[in-house]
Amino acid sequence: MAFPHLFPATTNQWKPGVDRDPGRDTYASPNLFTNYADFYARAAAAAKTAYRASRAQQNSDFKTYVAELRVACDSCHGLYLKSDQ
Ligand code: HEC
Repeated sequence: MAFPHLFPATTNQWKPGVDRDPGRDTYASPNLFTNYADFYARAAAAAKTAYRASRAQQNSDFKTYVAELRVACDSCHGLYLKSDQ
């Protein structure tokens, strides 16, 4: 739940086509900051799914939640994670 709070507006610093230091620079898309409510909701939903996975009693439930979590990771990255390409 702390995750979206790691992205205050002052961290909106991604620039295309510059030399990047992966240890210090951000890959967070500028769209994250204009769609912050959506980003926040996605982070909250992913956290709930991860929690459910951690509490699963059945192997099949665990697999279901982890598959859901993977979709949550990938879809958020699709929208809000830039890359060097
Ligand atoms: C709510 C959106 C969101 C969700 C959900 C999310 N991520 Fe991310 N993730 C990001 C953003 C934004 C960045 C870029 C952060 C930065 O560079 O400042 C990132 C960066 C990363 C990175 C670093 C990528 C790189 O190329 O350096 C990894 C690894 C990662 N996420 C793994 C995960 C995993 C695993 C999950 C699911 C369990 C997940 N993320 C779920 C938004 C999300």
